[in-house]
Amino acid sequence: MDSATVHSRMKATQFGGRPLSALADRPLLVAPSILSADFSKLGDECRAALAAGGDLLHVDVMDGHFVPNLSMGPAICEAVHRAAPDAVLDVHLMVTDPAAYIEPFARAGAGHITFHAEVVADPRPLFDQIRAFGMTAGLAINPKTAVEALLPWVGFLDMALVMSVQPGFSGQRFMADVLPKTRAIRDALPAHARVEMDGGVAPETAPACRAHGCDTIVAASAIFGRHDYATAIAAIRA
Ligand code: DX5
Ligand code: ZN
Repeated sequence: MDSATVHSRMKATQFGGRPLSALADRPLLVAPSILSADFSKLGDECRAALAAGGDLLHVDVMDGHFVPNLSMGPAICEAVHRAAPDAVLDVHLMVTDPAAYIEPFARAGAGHITFHAEVVADPRPLFDQIRAFGMTAGLAINPKTAVEALLPWVGFLDMALVMSVQPGFSGQRFMADVLPKTRAIRDALPAHARVEMDGGVAPETAPACRAHGCDTIVAASAIFGRHDYATAIAAIRA
């Protein structure tokens, strides 16, 4: 590596927020997804979800192309980072061109970035870019995507994400037929890497996720759709 590359890497690592590895000592992570938060008071919502027992915050980024919805960009992520600077921000890129958004989200305080296997032939260069900013890296698959799209890359992952709804919207019904995929991924992953379930997870569906190897649970409507976030998060953990 020449000195210019070393220098740019040193600068790059200044940007990202706390990575997922900061939570390695917690066996089960509950990640409130701010997609269902009240955006008119987003900072308060983030702090409330963390105070109620959320381990990290899940930030759903949608480009209107990979999924039929638009959600939030780096400015929102940066606002969340300012509201909760110690929180690990788990950025889920549901976008067709993830390479374009790694640096902007690193600068906005992301600690972990997951992108989708459906949009890249070889994810390894993007994992390298993500890690060059000091962040951890993940790969996601949609409900209709075979687990074989993710299995070749398990040795390169900090976290695998399995979608249990069609990506694009919170509040959908959990698709239990994805559970065999999480089991297959858990069996293939290195021990330090996590398995995250995303979509329709609630107190009723979380136990099956855990039984199939998930150790990281995303929930939007099952937390932000309730009055008492602490009770909601405790019920997902139970
Ligand atoms: C869906 C997003 C999910 C969503 C989950 O496209 O990736 O993270 O926020 O919402 P719930 O938990 O309500 O299904
Ligand atoms: Zn998500």
